[in-house]
Amino acid sequence: MIDIDALKNDLISRVADSDTPTEVLKAPEFRELYAQIPTLAPEERGVFGKRVNELKVAVESAVVARKAELESAALPPIDITAPFDVNASLPPLIPSTQGTQHPISQEIEYMSDILQRMGFRVYDSREIDDQYHMFETLNFPKGHPARDDYDTFMTVEKDEAGDSLIAPAHTSTMQNRILKELKPLLESGEPIAATSIDRVFRNEDLDARHEHTFYQHEGIYVNKGVHAGMLVATLQKFLEEYFGKPIEARVNPFYFPFTEPSFEFSLGCPFCDKAGCSVCGHAGWIELLGCGMIHPNVLKAAGIDPEVYTGFAWGGGVDRLIMMKHNIEDVRYFQSAKLDFLRQF
Ligand code: DAH
Repeated sequence: MIDIDALKNDLISRVADSDTPTEVLKAPEFRELYAQIPTLAPEERGVFGKRVNELKVAVESAVVARKAELESAALPPIDITAPFDVNASLPPLIPSTQGTQHPISQEIEYMSDILQRMGFRVYDSREIDDQYHMFETLNFPKGHPARDDYDTFMTVEKDEAGDSLIAPAHTSTMQNRILKELKPLLESGEPIAATSIDRVFRNEDLDARHEHTFYQHEGIYVNKGVHAGMLVATLQKFLEEYFGKPIEARVNPFYFPFTEPSFEFSLGCPFCDKAGCSVCGHAGWIELLGCGMIHPNVLKAAGIDPEVYTGFAWGGGVDRLIMMKHNIEDVRYFQSAKLDFLRQF
């Protein structure tokens, strides 16, 4: 009779020493064990068969473990301390020159820096927002015709009111949040001064001056006794810093639901001293942005008492400012991945 326990130990140690462990599964002892089964009394066969099976399973799992051991030994060891071979040539398709920051990012940093030095806190905007912030808090009630000027991309997601979430068409979508967040400053006697410079979206027909995805800078300032003269002076100072030269400002009446009065802010063309050139379309003046005194309903929507506090706000295109400053003729270059264009910055 074969001693199954002794055989098990023997086979497992043969597996552990073998370079071809599967061969052990062909050991003649297995055949001998199976051959014994019919010679046993019927009541012994079950127990015996079970023990032979257990033996087979144990040897098979030893084979699996030994095979794994042999495979990992076959791999060359990784030396994690080895230095990167700086003399090896670079694999193809990996650019060998370093990139630069995108001109829009550079200019946004520059603008934020100027406004920050003027006392404005800098906020990002959002790439998806609800219609409550984009319209309602800005005094465009549902069905207001001025909503049509801000036609943008809708998502299938709905907010709690059942309105589609949208890609905001202006950075003004941040006004209510900023006013609410900074309201405690007013109570402690400090002004609210904040800017939001970020990406916005509109359903536009594309041409050299229109993109569906572009950038705006927004400013809000609230305190006791704020008046429109402060608005003009602030914008003038900001733009003089941005262009690095004195500018002349002009405001004309305009309409926005969220400001009253509203203005269109123009600057005397800094490139031709108002004589007329290609940058100003030979008009001498450039209509640059929208602005005005914050509408009492906008202050109220943020819980600020318009009888006590007044404020001004502005908003305008960043791409246009950059195009003017650097004499860029087509807004589409920014998103075009034209390396010849981008490398100039
Ligand atoms: N959000 C306006 C637009 O995109 C621009 C604007 C005008 C922003 C007046 C303001 C403002 O904050 O006071 O057309």
